Formats: sequence, C-alpha cells, structure tokens
Amino acid sequence: MTEANLAPSVHNTQPTRWSFSERAITLYVDESRLLKVGDPSRQDAGVSCGAALEGTAIALSRHGAGIVSVEDLWETRGAGPRPELTIAAKLTLGEADIDPLAPFVDQRFTWRGIFDPVSEVVIKSLADWATDNETITLVSDRSDLAFIADLNDTLSLAVFRDRPYREELVSYMRLSKRHPQWSVDGLNLDAMQLSPIEGWVAGFALRHPIFEGIDALRLAKMMISEREKTLSASGIAFFSVQDGTSPIDMGRAFYRCWLNFTRIGLVAWPMAVLADDPEAARTCIARFDIPPGHRLINVFRLGGPSSHRRPVSARLPVSDLIIG
Ligand SMILES: Cc1cc2nc3c(=O)[nH]c(=O)nc-3n(C[C@H](O)[C@H](O)[C@H](O)COP(=O)(O)O)c2cc1C
Repeated sequence: MTEANLAPSVHNTQPTRWSFSERAITLYVDESRLLKVGDPSRQDAGVSCGAALEGTAIALSRHGAGIVSVEDLWETRGAGPRPELTIAAKLTLGEADIDPLAPFVDQRFTWRGIFDPVSEVVIKSLADWATDNETITLVSDRSDLAFIADLNDTLSLAVFRDRPYREELVSYMRLSKRHPQWSVDGLNLDAMQLSPIEGWVAGFALRHPIFEGIDALRLAKMMISEREKTLSASGIAFFSVQDGTSPIDMGRAFYRCWLNFTRIGLVAWPMAVLADDPEAARTCIARFDIPPGHRLINVFRLGGPSSHRRPVSARLPVSDLIIG
C-alpha cells in the first residue's frame, strides 16, 4: 500500500483510495481532494489514479500477484461507500512475475532544482528507450529548450495571476516545517527546493493583494521564473497519448515513463501548464512533431540527479488510504 501510493499525483493530492476483497481490488477517488479550479475536467485526478493503479500492479508483482483485468470506471463516477468517494476502477487479481520497474519505485521523485549534466551513455539509453515508445517525443536542442523555458514562464505567470488558481495551489503548499501536513501531502519546501526564508517570502508574496502589487511593479515573472532551472535540463520529453485514451490509462503510461527515466539515471520535473493551455499544446504539437492523433498530456524536464539532498516524499498514512 505504502509502495503503491508512492506514485505521483497532481500537487501531491493523493486522491486514490483502495478497498480489498478476495482476488479483487476497488480503487476509489476521494472527490474532496480534487482541484476544483486547477483541474475542472478531473483529468489530472484521473491521471493520478491511473498512476496509483500502476503503482498497485508493480507493488503486487513483488509478491507474485498481478492485475489480470481492469474495469475502467472513471467516467461513470459510481457512488462509493462514503459520500466523498466515487469508484475509479475495479481490478481482478491473478499471478504475475516481478515488474522490471519495481526497483525504481522508491528511487523516483520530482526534482525541482538545477539539473546536473548527464553522460552520453545516459542520453543514448534515453534515446534508445524513447525510439520504442510512441508516447515520448524528445527534444534537446538548446534553442528549443530556451523556447520551452520562456513559454513555461509566460504560462506560469498567467496561472499565478488567476487568483482562485493561485489560492488553490498555495493551499497545497507547506511553507513551514510547522505545517501539520508537512510530511503528509502537498508540496513542502524540500519538494519545491526552497529554503525556510524563501518559503516565508513566498507565503507573503503570493497573498492577495501583495502578488498583484508585485505584478504591477513587473517583478512577478522574475519571482516565479523557472528559466534557469529549465535551461539546465539535458532534454525535454513530451508525453502524449492517442486521442480518446482514458485518464486512467494515461496515468498508467505516465508513471511507467517516469519510472523508466529513473531507471535510465535521470530525474524529472513536469510542466503541466504547457499541455493544459490549449494554444501552447497546439504550438508544441506542431513544432516538435508529436505523433498525429495524439494529445499532449504533460512535458518533463530531464537531467542528472543533483548532488543536492533528495526531498523526502510526503505521503498520507496507510490508514487513510484503505477503505475498510
Ligand atoms: C497529472 C500530474 C501533473 C503534474 N504536474 C506537475 C507540474 O506541472 N509541476 C510540478 O512541479 N509537478 C507536477 N507533478 C508532480 C507532482 O507534483 C508530484 O508527483 C507530487 O508532488 C508527489 O511528489 P513526488 O513525485 O516527488 O513523489 C504532476 C503530477 C501528476 C500526476
């Protein structure tokens, strides 16, 4: 359970819940943990549940068990045993061999700092793996990285200017070690690679009307810019899926891609804003030759694991995840 819940989730909301019966598992989504402003279509929640489903399959494989069939119930929103729960999927269990990605589950994490360079061997393994994976389109040209870094900063500023979006994001930020949810969920200072002082400043500067004042002084873009960090990446991976793919299947593939980056020796940092903004997504699809008929779901910055400290993953206690 602990291992299954190491899967990535949007803003570390961890919306998936599990209930077990003999040879079957039901996955629920806790609707109270969905992002009403940031994810009105529920796609990010579905991707998070899909990643948790894949995490479940990988965790089971360590014990010789596997998922033999998945009933994807994401769109039906069937009622669960509690008012806040809806059914996401029903899984039937059987036997399976250990998943080759299992050793990388507890090594994967989101890296939000400057990336270290990587060796040619790592670059080649990434390129070789991506050749066989139609969901991944790689870009490493410096001018393309600069284009993506600028687009990411412009779009991020637009979403930070949207006060309800910003307030929802801030509600998932844990800007002080004293925050009761610091090691439980959301994004803490370690995950965001911020010092305690930077955290204090962010808490103040993102408030209304302080942020608007900073923006009026044309300082907001500089404050939220990730340009230098994006430019330190060794490459960018566009993650896209066939149009019509369900959010659960998107999430399963998304997690496997991320675990493969870890296997290859890379750390990753998504930029969902490039896929969420329809015009930016169209621009990226056209400019970077994303396969026809595909939808852009997310964009990863990739680079070397830095010598800096790895953030400890904040996660809910298992007792909160299981529906008895
Ligand atoms: C659908 C989805 C979208 C995400 N988008 C972003 C993003 O735009 N920026 C970001 O920094 N992290 C993003 N993440 C990563 C999560 O914030 C991260 O997985 C979560 O905080 C848990 O931390 P961990 O990956 O270190 O375990 C996304 C994750 C998911 C599942």
